Amino acid sequence: MQTKKIFAANWKMNKKPEESILFCKELIAKTTDYFFNEKEIYIFPQNFSLYSIAKELIGTSIKYGPQQIHIENSGAFTGENSLALAQGFKCQICLIGHSERRQLFHESDEWISKKVNLCLEQNIKPIICIGETLEQRQSGKTFDVLHHQLWSALKSVNANQEFIVAYEPVWAIGTGQVATKDQVAEVHSYLAQQLKQKEYQLFSLLYGGSVKAENAKELIQIEYVDGFLIGGASLEVSSFLNICNCLN
Ligand code: PGA
Repeated sequence: MQTKKIFAANWKMNKKPEESILFCKELIAKTTDYFFNEKEIYIFPQNFSLYSIAKELIGTSIKYGPQQIHIENSGAFTGENSLALAQGFKCQICLIGHSERRQLFHESDEWISKKVNLCLEQNIKPIICIGETLEQRQSGKTFDVLHHQLWSALKSVNANQEFIVAYEPVWAIGTGQVATKDQVAEVHSYLAQQLKQKEYQLFSLLYGGSVKAENAKELIQIEYVDGFLIGGASLEVSSFLNICNCLN
């Protein structure tokens, strides 16, 4: 659906506010209007850095948002951050259901679905992460897992709502072991068919998991790969831009 390719930086629990600001300044200095004609850039910093980077990025084409939000907009939830807070920082996007959230913080399908709905109600574009573990792939369960994660996240989403799905095989995240071209092609075409069958039109599909400049050129050519969700290689402007330049 999306005509521009999307390059999304997931900084995870890295970069202090001052480092985040420096990254943004360098990124802006090294990009031109032409660069943004064919690319969308998303940044997911730690929540504490959202305020700092908002000050750098408001008025630019670069979008930013939280890596995680709570299901409620306010209340007695010590330690959590709300989407309302992110909206105050003019965030336009939100990462939901990253495998680290699912595995390390036991984020449930039910909560993921609630968060997707909360974002859509408040005009924030959700980037819903799904992906199988190595064990699930090896036991032939990849498509069952993806089907379940996809449809439980979208269970209350209408066909006219806009969202992004990021396919991130858990075994490829931070391991250096990128999925093969055939594996990515198979999953992305499966996801696109699934969504189209139910009349969804306004979706984009990202691939994530050990994306680097060396593999990005090949992966971006695959049908239904609308861009990447990038962890480790998004921490330096140079390696992030090298991936974005895979279109050249
Ligand atoms: P990686 O992380 O690029 O370091 O593999 C991707 C992600 O977790 O989103």
